[in-house]
Amino acid sequence: MRILKAKDYLEMSRKAANLIAAQVILKPDCVLGLATGSTPIGLYQQLIQGYQQGNLDFSQVKTANLDEYKGLTRENDQSYYYFMHQNLFKSINVKEENTNIPDGTVADSANECARYDEIIRTLGGVDLQLLGLGHNGHIGFNEPADSFAKGTHCVDLTKSTIEANKRFFASADDVPRQAYTMGIQTIMNARKILVVVNGEAKADIVQKAFFGPVTPQVPASILQFHPDVTLVGDEAALSKI
Ligand code: GLP
Repeated sequence: MRILKAKDYLEMSRKAANLIAAQVILKPDCVLGLATGSTPIGLYQQLIQGYQQGNLDFSQVKTANLDEYKGLTRENDQSYYYFMHQNLFKSINVKEENTNIPDGTVADSANECARYDEIIRTLGGVDLQLLGLGHNGHIGFNEPADSFAKGTHCVDLTKSTIEANKRFFASADDVPRQAYTMGIQTIMNARKILVVVNGEAKADIVQKAFFGPVTPQVPASILQFHPDVTLVGDEAALSKI
């Protein structure tokens, strides 16, 4: 695993965006696995700048997002579809038909998960998967569990995730209780993985996930077995390693 230490959020965002930019330049039709949460917003802004300055072309890039809340429509401003459009897609030249996000409005979980796995297979897998890190070690919405989930599945969100994400909703009661997420196997099959972390609140889980035992109770710990992981963090998030 490579660890890149940045002095602050802006530098973390720049370093991470550079790695994604390099992927897009080397393979213009690459498949990017994308993530939501507050951590990647800065790096998405950097990618937008790169595009606006004429240095990046996303016209052949394909994307597959990690997860989506079950039950939220695309128009809901808390859906990950909405997030991706607001924070990245509307400001770059990626083609709408090349972007993929699980559809939270499909009630039949088995159908939607099979459809999404098939999309990823058809794309030929993910070249570079971007990940944030949940406070309990979740990646995507793979919550602590007794075993590592394989493909896309429907999860019950844990109390701590609902708590952490309620800041985006009117109240904790409004946070959806379930989500669709890529599985651990799908994430591990990505050719490269880029994890971004910032802030002191992530310092303990960074230590546990990357230097503690590999266990499905800390889903991100499986990344210790991936051959090409880069962790980019600010000083605060990396302060305990
Ligand atoms: C959500 C997302 C995760 C993300 C996590 C951390 O739960 N499903 O993909 O990594 O939040 O979010 P943040 O970056 O806001 O700390």
